[in-house]
Amino acid sequence: MKDQAGPGHPRTRAVIIGRPITHARSPLIHGHWLKQLGIDGTYDRREVMPGAVAAVLRELRDEGYAGGNVTVPHKEEAFMACDHVTERARIAGAVNTFWFEGSELHGDNTDGIGFVAHLSETWPDWDREPAEIRIVGAGGAARGLIAPLLDRNVKAISVSNRSRERAETLRDDIRAVLPDAPLEILDWSHRGDDLGTVDLLINTTSMGMDGQPPLEIDLAAMKPSGIVADIVYVPLETPLLADANRLGLRTLDGLGMLLHQAVPGFERWFGQRPSVTPALRQHVFADLLAPH
Ligand code: ATR
Repeated sequence: MKDQAGPGHPRTRAVIIGRPITHARSPLIHGHWLKQLGIDGTYDRREVMPGAVAAVLRELRDEGYAGGNVTVPHKEEAFMACDHVTERARIAGAVNTFWFEGSELHGDNTDGIGFVAHLSETWPDWDREPAEIRIVGAGGAARGLIAPLLDRNVKAISVSNRSRERAETLRDDIRAVLPDAPLEILDWSHRGDDLGTVDLLINTTSMGMDGQPPLEIDLAAMKPSGIVADIVYVPLETPLLADANRLGLRTLDGLGMLLHQAVPGFERWFGQRPSVTPALRQHVFADLLAPH
């Protein structure tokens, strides 16, 4: 345990920045782990206006914070503000986890490794054979997923986005770092084509979220052993996942990614590696159901 509060030992502090910040679930996750591991640290939340991210990060450093998380809409701005970023953050062009080393600001993107950790824990055989992946969406979330997926046993990734140009930019940006990345772009109207060979379909758009229209995609022809994943977690069972469940396909909900992406940051700031347990999942799930 490091930096325990007490004489001469400042309490370790971390923080999440975003706008709005009231509904962020990360304080619940880190608060649970701090209590469970008996660490006398804090995890605060701070609302930050667009354009102010770099200045706020410097203030946080000067206030003695160990680091923190970044949520919407600041992940790209945080990326620009960092002195050093990991390769996966560079590929994503976005930072969701930061920490200070001396006066230097370091950034990482743990969304993708969180997704893959949840996937591998839930369906350990998912990449036993080279996997064919279909990603729907080409926004920040899709960018975060691609590098960690390409680190695994992956045959090809096809990306379909409403605006094709954005998917092409994503492909070009990734190829600039990983020239041989097996990426192809599919027109939006073809997002549901050839699902018979797709092992893993991932919705990274906001469609299916409460208040948004569902993602229209016909899963009837999906490979029977295929997995359908959604990064949306409100509701936990999106219409897409409900369809997949009805068809007897394997599914992966978005809550696991939220929990797993938090692990590396906690370990870095507070010095102990926490676990994603059923109790933690239940704790956050109960909050999703609670009226806000
Ligand atoms: P995030 O960081 O969560 O990925 P984002 O960068 O704003 O958020 O990306 C949102 C994604 O959802 C994009 O792929 C977006 O498609 P466009 O790039 O064409 O805008 C997709 N999306 C959102 N609403 C959509 C809708 N009604 N139909 C199709 N795609 C939608």
